[in-house]
Amino acid sequence: MLLHIKNILDTAKQDNIREMLNKVQFVDGKHSAGMVATQVKNNQEMQQDTQQAQYLDQLVMSSLAENADFRSAALPFRVAQPVFARYSPGMHYGNHIDDPIMGSGPNKFRTDVAVTVFLNSPEEYDGGELVIQSPFGEQRVKYAAGDAVLYPANNLHQVEEVTRGERLVAVTWIQSMVRDAARRELLFELGLARNTLLQQNAENPTAQQVDRSWVNLLRRWSEV
Ligand code: NI
Repeated sequence: MLLHIKNILDTAKQDNIREMLNKVQFVDGKHSAGMVATQVKNNQEMQQDTQQAQYLDQLVMSSLAENADFRSAALPFRVAQPVFARYSPGMHYGNHIDDPIMGSGPNKFRTDVAVTVFLNSPEEYDGGELVIQSPFGEQRVKYAAGDAVLYPANNLHQVEEVTRGERLVAVTWIQSMVRDAARRELLFELGLARNTLLQQNAENPTAQQVDRSWVNLLRRWSEV
């Protein structure tokens, strides 16, 4: 499932992030790529270990955590610190899959779900589409500033070359409580029905049956 989540960041947060990104140092993105990815990766990433980086990480992570669609679709167990990436003209990121395990020591986590948050408007650059290979063919993604795309991290994907302007994104990965993408999708769909039924009438026996099914499926399928 590929999910378009709108308005993860409101305009005040977007402006705040843009302003800070103008002040921070960017470095060659190859430093964080896996063995195959390093050969196809050509972008820049914000230097990680600064105060500004900490502030920006927190801003994006808390905005994700507050979003109900994100929580229902990702069922997050661990959310990685986002990577802020910049693509200037000529930059791209060729076809690759993301590393299965990231982090180190006690902070190791499995990458089940990938998220890209768009930090500037699609009118500000040409090219730079995120192209995701899915069982239903190629999905080409270029969303409004503040929007995000969420997809299973085992999908092959690439970022096409930027030919004008600058593409700014925050990318992060999630270890989900539910490892299997098909199960996550079932829980997402059933969860939508559950929320609607409970909002209509929480006393309704059908609403309660659907609620119990969702809760017990999550209990059965989750690993925490
Ligand atoms: Ni990737």
